[in-house]
Amino acid sequence: MTMRLTCTVNGQRREVDGVWEGESLLFVLRERMSLPGSKNACEQGECGSCTVYLDGVAVCACLVAAGQAQGREVVTVEGLAPGDGPEDLDPVQRAFLDAGAVQCGFCTPGLVVAAHDLLRRSPRPGDPEIREALAGNLCRCTGYQKILDAVRLAAERTAVS
Ligand code: FES
Ligand code: FES
Repeated sequence: MTMRLTCTVNGQRREVDGVWEGESLLFVLRERMSLPGSKNACEQGECGSCTVYLDGVAVCACLVAAGQAQGREVVTVEGLAPGDGPEDLDPVQRAFLDAGAVQCGFCTPGLVVAAHDLLRRSPRPGDPEIREALAGNLCRCTGYQKILDAVRLAAERTAVS
């Protein structure tokens, strides 16, 4: 059975018809709402590349059924940036670029959302806390060192002294 899905995505009310309740929120975002930032790698909740906020909680969008998003608020990696221009980046996005933490980039959107979530909760995390927060996000390219650098850099730039 299909449904009309109504939810808020990146601050805008969105309505999509013909959504099967059991299809993933990730599919809805990418294929029905033209928001390809959240990546589809494992579709099993194991890689974190599809991480989005759902009512302010970071979740794997591949594990959320579309029906579960009804009436709720979703923020994707696209929604973190303050504007649409190439220079309009969230500090975490900027830090990933500046620290050289992006190689193929497939893991990056999920890592950015996970790091953003960490810094909201804990503005000055130590390395163990960063590692724990990002443990669900897999990267095949970087060896993680530059990702750690990026999160430290974002923390330095954003933490209120
Ligand atoms: S695609 Fe969702 S966790 Fe891998
Ligand atoms: S940069 Fe390629 S998987 Fe992380």
